[in-house]
Amino acid sequence: MHSAYRDVQETKERDWVNEMTESFDVKLVEQAKYYTPDPSYREHAWTQNYTQAYEEFLADPEEFWAKIARHLEWFKPWNKVREWDYPYAKWFLGAQLNITHNCLDRHIETHRRNKVALIWRGEEGEERIYTYMKLYREVMRCANGLKRIGVQKGDRVCIYMPMVPEQIIAMLACARIGAVHSVVFGGFGVNALNMRINDADAKVVITADVAIRRGKTIQLKTTVEEAIINAPSVEKVVVLRREKDQPVELHPEIEIDFEEMMNGTPKECPPEVMDSEDPLFILYTSGSTGPPKGIVHTCGGYMVGTYYTSLHVFDIKDNDVYWCTADPGWITGHSYIVYGPLAVGATVVIAETTPDYPDPGSFWRIVQDLGVTVFYTAPTAIRMFMKVGETWPSKYDIRSLRVLGSVGEPLNPEAFEWYYKFIGDNRCPIVDTWWQTETGMQMITTMIGERMRPGFAGKPIPGIVADVVNKEGIPVAPGTGGFLVIKEPWPAMLRTVFKNDERYRKYWETIPGCYTAGDLAVKGHDGYIMVIGRADDIIIVSGHNIGTAEVESALVSHQAVAEAAVIGKPDPMKGNTIKAFLILRVGHTPSDRLKSDLIYHVRMTLGPIAMPQEIEFVEKLPKTRSGKIMRRVLKAKELGIDPGDISTLEE
Ligand code: WTA
Repeated sequence: MHSAYRDVQETKERDWVNEMTESFDVKLVEQAKYYTPDPSYREHAWTQNYTQAYEEFLADPEEFWAKIARHLEWFKPWNKVREWDYPYAKWFLGAQLNITHNCLDRHIETHRRNKVALIWRGEEGEERIYTYMKLYREVMRCANGLKRIGVQKGDRVCIYMPMVPEQIIAMLACARIGAVHSVVFGGFGVNALNMRINDADAKVVITADVAIRRGKTIQLKTTVEEAIINAPSVEKVVVLRREKDQPVELHPEIEIDFEEMMNGTPKECPPEVMDSEDPLFILYTSGSTGPPKGIVHTCGGYMVGTYYTSLHVFDIKDNDVYWCTADPGWITGHSYIVYGPLAVGATVVIAETTPDYPDPGSFWRIVQDLGVTVFYTAPTAIRMFMKVGETWPSKYDIRSLRVLGSVGEPLNPEAFEWYYKFIGDNRCPIVDTWWQTETGMQMITTMIGERMRPGFAGKPIPGIVADVVNKEGIPVAPGTGGFLVIKEPWPAMLRTVFKNDERYRKYWETIPGCYTAGDLAVKGHDGYIMVIGRADDIIIVSGHNIGTAEVESALVSHQAVAEAAVIGKPDPMKGNTIKAFLILRVGHTPSDRLKSDLIYHVRMTLGPIAMPQEIEFVEKLPKTRSGKIMRRVLKAKELGIDPGDISTLEE
């Protein structure tokens, strides 16, 4: 069994963490530069005093969370807030609820009944609007449709869709009836989808004929057709047919039209009564080694965690227009497009669009047209905007913006300053939020109104205990690099890895007494945390997690490849790009043609996000005597840095 953080553990003598930290920017840790938001932000914020809120939490953690949970509606109250049986936690024990009741029914009964819940924008500026009432109706129709085709509580449903309202409706419909959704990002390829369907034993796959990207249609249904060939659990495929002029043909034995599934079903669908600890969804994330992990989130704690952070981190108010540019296919979309913002009753914008199509003004046009007030995006997009220049945002009236957010990878100080100045008008607070698929909710940031420090995400939010420690779990001195860990359980934490509880326990067993996030970080004297990057074999490309193991196995599945090793190379725009070192099988010779074939092969099997940018054919790969590839040595060579301790390297 490979260790989860093998590169780090392989290196015994050398303080790998500190070297990595130094190569980043330790100067920043010493020179403290802050931005202080206008006091009015703090005055009106949901959390007005970070220090006081944090102390309140420490004084009585259970009451802190219970107080938040009481704002939501439960069918039956909990009899215990938390049970911590290391490394297993349960939250709101004995309580019953349905998250969709809190995202929909709860608002229907109030002044929010006719409030806009969702505004969808297409690439050509098309718009579709759902009020809370309409969304509620549609979710119930879809839920009844799913029931009609045999979906029951506990069944897994795979959702592989473009960014359209129906993607969100399908997620909520599953949650309504207690089916466990597993959303797969629409950009994944055949093998990636097949693996996820099989691992979850999905009974139904919900998809669409096409996705639209940069003016082109991308066939999703054909990918599904291939992906279910070796997926015995799949009984039905539901197809949303967007192309009305020439509707795609359906195979009646297995496929059913999305609309048809819902037509004629009863209007009402009472929410399934869920136990607080019943699973809500599975979401796959790249593992450091081996195949992706099915992260399991449960109903009660996840609802409380995403509700609390949506309200307190983004400081959402009833008249805000909130736009998160992620896709619901990632955790950011699950927590901060769907469940959190709807639980607080926000107006949520979704757009099937890219930041630079048809031109680099596409985002700012949407902000202007819809009067977006809270805007959440990724550093990779911000760096792209920086590159094309501030003339683009300056063409639009984006003064409606009030709060800016960032997620997915470190927000470097230059990008922070550009974002603050040119998008935020030197006025909007920026919440650089650190969290993960596994954490389910935002964990570290700078709360609205607090002074911000470029390069630093901030401090653990009230409710969370986080620190930077060494391998033994001892906090490192300020300014020194270490591992980012979480020390106490939190409501929205993952409960297990689907069908692989051993991988779950690894998170809590790598460093004694802590949840190990897998990130390297530095803490300043002021307690602010700077997240540096991954400590393991996960590469973050444009904010998306890619496992080296996944890319390597895709490459090795090509007939020409005998062995593969993949590394991440720092890139000013994308954060990292992927480089693959390949040993060819006998009878195959290196050529540019073969390189493009291999890149295409990865595109088709895993998807465009996992494509190597560079391929190098080699005769040998550096390995330990026990045969493990030492990617760290390849990386050091590639970047021209000291490879460190290579005593375990075979001759
Ligand atoms: C990275 C995305 C620095 C980190 C929500 C983490 C970040 C991984 C930040 C999780 C941030 C996310 N600053 N790094 N603000 N946010 N990361 O599971 O390496 O897709 O471990 O969840 O993204 O990625 P995931």
